[in-house]
Amino acid sequence: MESITALYPWTTAPLIAGAPMRLISGPALAHAISAAGGIGFLAAGTDVSTLAENLAAFKSLLSASPISGAPSDVLPVGVGFILWGADLKVAVKALSELSEPPAAVWLFAPSSTEQLESWAKELRTATKSKSKIWVQISSVADAIEAFKAAEPDVFVIQGADAGGHGRYASAGLISLVPEVVDAVRVYAGRAGYTPRGYIAAGGISDERGVNAALALGADGVALGTRFLAAEEAVIMNGYQDAVLKASDGGVNTIRTDVYDKLRGTTGWPEGYGGRGVINQSYVDATSGLSFDENVKLYKAAEGAGNKGWEEGNARMTTYAGTGVGLVKTVTKAGDIVKELRGEIVVKRSYESRRRQVNITD
Ligand SMILES: Cc1cc2nc3c(=O)[nH]c(=O)nc-3n(C[C@H](O)[C@H](O)[C@H](O)COP(=O)(O)O)c2cc1C
Repeated sequence: MESITALYPWTTAPLIAGAPMRLISGPALAHAISAAGGIGFLAAGTDVSTLAENLAAFKSLLSASPISGAPSDVLPVGVGFILWGADLKVAVKALSELSEPPAAVWLFAPSSTEQLESWAKELRTATKSKSKIWVQISSVADAIEAFKAAEPDVFVIQGADAGGHGRYASAGLISLVPEVVDAVRVYAGRAGYTPRGYIAAGGISDERGVNAALALGADGVALGTRFLAAEEAVIMNGYQDAVLKASDGGVNTIRTDVYDKLRGTTGWPEGYGGRGVINQSYVDATSGLSFDENVKLYKAAEGAGNKGWEEGNARMTTYAGTGVGLVKTVTKAGDIVKELRGEIVVKRSYESRRRQVNITD
């Protein structure tokens, strides 16, 4: 199998991806990550209306600061969509109007298998298969379903520790990555299909996490939480400070729908919740304060800007993963990418070391 970095010739192995984070991963962050030899993702999320504008902004950054090794027929960037809430027609229009489409599209949280199938099919047609299809999954069942519906070029394997939205029912990367890789190999191999790569996401914050993911059989990693502390992230200072202060993510973050309800971002398919730092909003929601009263306090915090994250009475949504305690400084995204590659001691060698698997349908 040709390596995933061969697909994206400006990148360096192991592939480091900046996960699409709705409202936070804009053109500057995506460009900085790609310029450092990773792949940045713009976050279209559930609102595709600003996609064309964001891609145009990325193109301007690219003209001002070209990325060496980037091919001429695609933009060296990806775009992430949250399928249940995004408009496929608008996405198709925005992408088909581009002479150079993004090098990757990242599909997440479909409301049905059919929806995933039509997104993959229509985006492949719209971009003449120049945009490779990445699908973020969080279980073996999801991976098999994604294979059947979309034959993803790349699987993003999202573990339980991931910040932001993910499935409540999910395992940590240590068991999830090898089981997904084995299962896809067997099911998909029978159909003569091999994905170009597996990317691990969830709780990875430094080079130790990158090494661990490679040892498990991933070809690269995708990070969200670590890039919240990138200089280029579109993020309120209060949010960024709260990320820097948080530690011990297994205790101080939680996957919940409390924040979606308070800020009105509901509509997620059954089984998804957002992992964020536990604060007063969550404590009040789980200790009997009425929803109406909690929303009132939330709106007031929202109106207070950075003070909404003020220690002692922080109420604002602070999506972040369990790796938050390893995020200690705000730095340029390019330096984060370099740090993640600091000392890569594990050569991805899953192919040679894999045990023989024998999975039946
Ligand atoms: C603040 C935040 C926003 C996110 N928004 C999105 C999104 O818009 N689309 C998406 O596919 N994933 C989103 N995610 C999840 C990421 O794709 C990824 O799975 C996760 O960040 C990996 O875990 P980590 O945060 O521990 O690095 C978000 C994550 C965070 C932390």
